[in-house]
Amino acid sequence: MALFEIRGILPQDVSRYRKLRLDGLRAHPEAFGASWEEEAAQPLAWFAESLERNIIFGGVSAETSELIGIVGFHVPDSAKQRHKGVLWGMYVEPRARGTGLGAALVTRVLQQALGTVEQVRLTVVVTNKVAIRLYERAGFEKYGLERRALKIGEEYHDEVLMAWPP
Ligand SMILES: CC(C)(COP(=O)(O)OP(=O)(O)OC[C@H]1O[C@@H](n2cnc3c(N)ncnc32)[C@H](O)[C@@H]1OP(=O)(O)O)[C@@H](O)C(=O)NCCC(=O)NCCS
Repeated sequence: MALFEIRGILPQDVSRYRKLRLDGLRAHPEAFGASWEEEAAQPLAWFAESLERNIIFGGVSAETSELIGIVGFHVPDSAKQRHKGVLWGMYVEPRARGTGLGAALVTRVLQQALGTVEQVRLTVVVTNKVAIRLYERAGFEKYGLERRALKIGEEYHDEVLMAWPP
């Protein structure tokens, strides 16, 4: 039996979405462009708006119905940029990792992208080997490197730029 189900995050999921998003930002500051300090200060309505502006998929535990993983997909409004979508905000709770949920969330974004955009792009910190391998297995390829993409405190982090299809 499947351990999880993938479905779109609904407006009524906003509290659970906020909690999981903030858990991820706090535990893995280098994995996200956003920071816990900035988003933790935002009210629930701000997260509800984010759900309206983006397509966000969640992994729901088959056993407990808890939200255990999330991934965002954004397509820009701009006419010159809406041919490419962005996969962002990938996070799976530590206890749910290694079960294929991350891979299933990427697959769901790519299904959504087909027929909507020509390419999906993402960025990932160079040291995040697990995530890079996950994206490569899904068909993403590296096309660039952004040095000093993130600055956390006094420390810089380089990011790999990846695209699907390459
Ligand atoms: C990257 C991340 C989303 C992967 O999620 P996941 O649900 O563990 O993904 P999968 O189960 O599909 O695959 C993870 C890989 O780690 C392996 N793995 C095995 N046990 C594991 C464990 N206990 N914990 C983590 N990974 C494990 C899996 O086998 C798989 O690798 P393989 O196919 O080469 O064997 C998750 O580790 C995470 O949320 N990390 C923190 C946030 C982050 O880095 N986000 C990405 C930002 S770009």
